[in-house]
Amino acid sequence: MREKVLVLDFGSQYTQLIARRTRELGVYSEIKPYNTAANDIRKDFPKAIILSGGPSSVWGVGSPRVDLEILSLGIPVLGICYGLQTLVFQLGGEVERSQKREYGPAVLNLMTEDPLFSGVKKRSDVWMSHGDRVLRVPEGFRAIADTRNTECAAVRNADGDIYGVQFHPEVVHTEFGTKMLSNFLFHVADLIGNWTAGSFIEHTIRDIRERVGDGKIICGLSGGVDSSVAAVLINEAVGRRLYCIFVDTGCMRLNEAKEVCDAFSEFEMNFIHVDASERFLARLKGIEDPETKRKIMGEQFVRVFEEEAEKISGVSFLAQGTLYPDVIESVSVKGPSAVIKSHHNVGGLPEKMNLKIVEPLRELFKDEVRSVGKKLGLDSFLIGRHPFPGPGLAIRIMGEVTPERLSILRHADSIFIGELEKSGAYDDIWQAFCVFIPVKTVGVMGDERTYENVCVLRAVSSTDGMTADWSKISYDLLGEISVRIINEVKGINRVVYDISTKPPSTIEWQ
Ligand code: XMP
Repeated sequence: MREKVLVLDFGSQYTQLIARRTRELGVYSEIKPYNTAANDIRKDFPKAIILSGGPSSVWGVGSPRVDLEILSLGIPVLGICYGLQTLVFQLGGEVERSQKREYGPAVLNLMTEDPLFSGVKKRSDVWMSHGDRVLRVPEGFRAIADTRNTECAAVRNADGDIYGVQFHPEVVHTEFGTKMLSNFLFHVADLIGNWTAGSFIEHTIRDIRERVGDGKIICGLSGGVDSSVAAVLINEAVGRRLYCIFVDTGCMRLNEAKEVCDAFSEFEMNFIHVDASERFLARLKGIEDPETKRKIMGEQFVRVFEEEAEKISGVSFLAQGTLYPDVIESVSVKGPSAVIKSHHNVGGLPEKMNLKIVEPLRELFKDEVRSVGKKLGLDSFLIGRHPFPGPGLAIRIMGEVTPERLSILRHADSIFIGELEKSGAYDDIWQAFCVFIPVKTVGVMGDERTYENVCVLRAVSSTDGMTADWSKISYDLLGEISVRIINEVKGINRVVYDISTKPPSTIEWQ
C-alpha cells in the first residue's frame, strides 16, 4: 500500500514546499486544512503528519488550532514553526508573544543525540522566519536543540513520536533540512519510501482502466508538458480508445506544430492534427484589444475541438492535465489558497457534451510530471519546455495580429530561445519569449536609415507563475541575442530587455 504523509496547512508560504520535499524523499504527501478532524485523518491512513508554519500568532484572536486528538492516533507528528508553537501552546507549554520577527539564518546547536539528528553536524545553519517563540515546553517534552535567540529550537516528547522545530527544514538555506526531514520520515516514522514515477504510473494506469472501462476518451493536446504527459499516460492505459486532438491555432512558434507532431509520431496513438490557422487568423483580423483576442482564441479552440470530437462516436470522457497545485483545497488560514489559472480547460465542453473528466495528473507537482514524462519515454523537447499560453503569439503581438508580424516574432523568438539553449541558461528560466511592439523607431544599418519595430526580450524566474522575477541573463548573452535579432530579423531594428517583476507587472505583456 502506498505510504502517505499528511501536511496540515496553517497558511505558510512553504506548505507546498514541505509536501514537495517529502515526495522528493520518496514519500507521497497530501496537503489538508489545518483543522481537519482527527477522525477524518484516521480514515486516510497517513503514516506521519507534518504541521506547517503559518503567519498567525498563537495569541491572536481566532488563531488556528490543531485537533489535539491527532496525538492519540499513534501517528508520528512533526510541527514546523507555527506548527510547533500551536502544539506547545495547546499542550500547556509557554509561548512568548513577540512583536519582532526573527527572519534569516541562525546557527542550530544540538543539545543531544537524537534520531531526528542522525547525520546532522553538532552546529549547522538553519533558516528562521517566526515572531513568537517557545519559552517552556509542555510536560513530557524536552528541548533537544537551541540557537542563540531560541532555547527551544527543536523539541520532542518522551516517546519520541512528537517533534517540533522552530526553523524551516524545508527550505534550502537550512543546511541539514532535507536530512532532518528524511530522519523524521525514515527513522522516526519508519517509512520505506515507495513513491516513485514508476509506482505512480503503475497505479494510475490501473485507476484509469478501472474508471474508464470500455469508454472512449478525448484529450486536447497542446504540446505543453502537462497535456503531453497526460496523453501518453492515458494512452498506456487505454491505447486506441484515446483520441488526442492537437489544434494548430496559427499562433504557435516557429516549426512548433511540426515538432509536436513528430514527437508524438513515436507513440502508437490516435493523434489528430487539425490545422485551423486560417480560421483563427481570419477571426483575429483587425482586432487589437487583448481580451478580445483571448476570447477569440478560446472560442475558436473550443469550436474546432468540438467539431473534431463530434466525428468520434461514443466518447464519454474528457482528459485534462490538471496538476496538484490546482486542486489543493482552500486550506490556508489566509483564505482560499491561491489557485493557479487553469488555462487549458476546454471551456464548457464537459457539460455540453455530457463528458466525465479524467485528470490523471491531479496528484502531481510540475517536477513530478516531468519525471513521469521522462519515464514514459516522452521526447526531452516536450518535457523541459517553458509554459506557453493557449492564445500563443496572439497575446505577444501588441495590436493587430498579422501574418507578417507573426513571422517576424517567430523568427526573433527562435533566435532568443536558441541562444538560451545553447548557453545552458534555458533550463534555469521559468519562461522566456519575445514580444513584438509595432512602434517604429529610427536606426541605422550600414549607411541606411531604418525605421522598424521593437522586439522585447522577456525572461523570468518563478516557481508557479504567480510571482516572478526577471532573469539575470548575462550582459554578454543579451548582447549576442540583440545583435543576432537586429541583423537577422527583417522588421526589427531595436531590442530591449524587460526588467519588470510580477507583481506589479505580469509575465505576458497582454
Ligand atoms: P501572467 O501574464 O498572468 O502569466 O503573469 C502567468 C502565466 O500564465 C500564462 N498565461 C496564460 N496561459 N492562457 C494560457 O493558457 C492565457 O490566456 C494566459 N495568460 C497568461 C503565462 O504564459 C504565464 O506562464
